[in-house]
Amino acid sequence: MLKLVFCLVCFVVGGYGYTAQDIADFDNFIADFHKTYATTTDRSNANFYFIYNRNQATAQNNQADRNTSSSRQAVNQFSDIRLIHFAALLPKSVYPSLSYASTPVETQDALAEVDIIADMGLSITVEDQGVSCSSSWAYATAKSVEILNALQTGNPSPQSLSAQELIDCTSMGTGCTTQVPQVGFDYLTQYSSILSPVDTYPNTNTVTNQGFCLPNQITGDVRLATYATIADGDDDSLKRFVSNNIPVVVEYNPATFGFMQYSSGVYVPTTPKATSSQFLVVVGYGYDANSGLDYWKCLNSFGTTWGENGYIRIVRSTKYPLAKNAIFPNTF
Ligand SMILES: *[C@@H]1O[C@H](CO)[C@@H](O)[C@H](O)[C@H]1NC(C)=O
Repeated sequence: MLKLVFCLVCFVVGGYGYTAQDIADFDNFIADFHKTYATTTDRSNANFYFIYNRNQATAQNNQADRNTSSSRQAVNQFSDIRLIHFAALLPKSVYPSLSYASTPVETQDALAEVDIIADMGLSITVEDQGVSCSSSWAYATAKSVEILNALQTGNPSPQSLSAQELIDCTSMGTGCTTQVPQVGFDYLTQYSSILSPVDTYPNTNTVTNQGFCLPNQITGDVRLATYATIADGDDDSLKRFVSNNIPVVVEYNPATFGFMQYSSGVYVPTTPKATSSQFLVVVGYGYDANSGLDYWKCLNSFGTTWGENGYIRIVRSTKYPLAKNAIFPNTF
């Protein structure tokens, strides 16, 4: 009875009739993702969007249970904001007019299935760019250089290379907004810069040192000689380079519920809510017998609680070409 009265009060005060399950889910979400809200209004709005997003996930997972959807969703760090807000956090990237891309190294024909990380026995840390800095361009650039360098130097457990160094040193104040991997690759190849490991240049997920780029004369740093690109829509080339153990960075539009809350399976894009940019590192491709779909395997920088331990499998089909502003480290 007390509960009923309490809930009636909730309903009148908040305007929404949350069930005991709703309240428990939101409390767990706050604890799991270490959320804090500055005001009761912020909290109430977050609660509202959380319930909406959780219900989206439930609806999609019901479809997945009936095999009418090939991917699943779960509540994650983005579940307390609107999809349009998520899209705004990851604004559309702006490209420089000049490119210093070089001719890519020769590659062999593509294999049927590839997973660079598993096939090569690599242990690669999945990064978390947080929820306020759109820095996937820097994380993806650093990760692609890290993976290729690890393979070429025979080091299966490389330390993460610093995305922060790229954010601070290359981006003219736009490191958390509209930057692109090319700017990071230009910095590394055109100015003989070197990329530090995170223990000497930690990731802070903010533009902390803008204009105060730390000098990087430390052993263990990685120097890249050239980078190369793939034409938009040329998924055959993308496949060939990945098959030759080259991690390729692509630009993706993440503004759908299915991407925002992706948790597993093969993601098939729906119409994006807005134009936005998230950079992913393509590390493999294959066939998923559960859904009967071919997929690309990509490493994201939303931490390990997002997706399949930080990775997403995206449908691989001519209807949805993945090669977009594709770029990769070429020679060291
Ligand atoms: C799910 O549907 C797909 C496509 O219709 C099919 O290829 C696949 O075998 C189905 N999976 C299961 C587990 O029934």
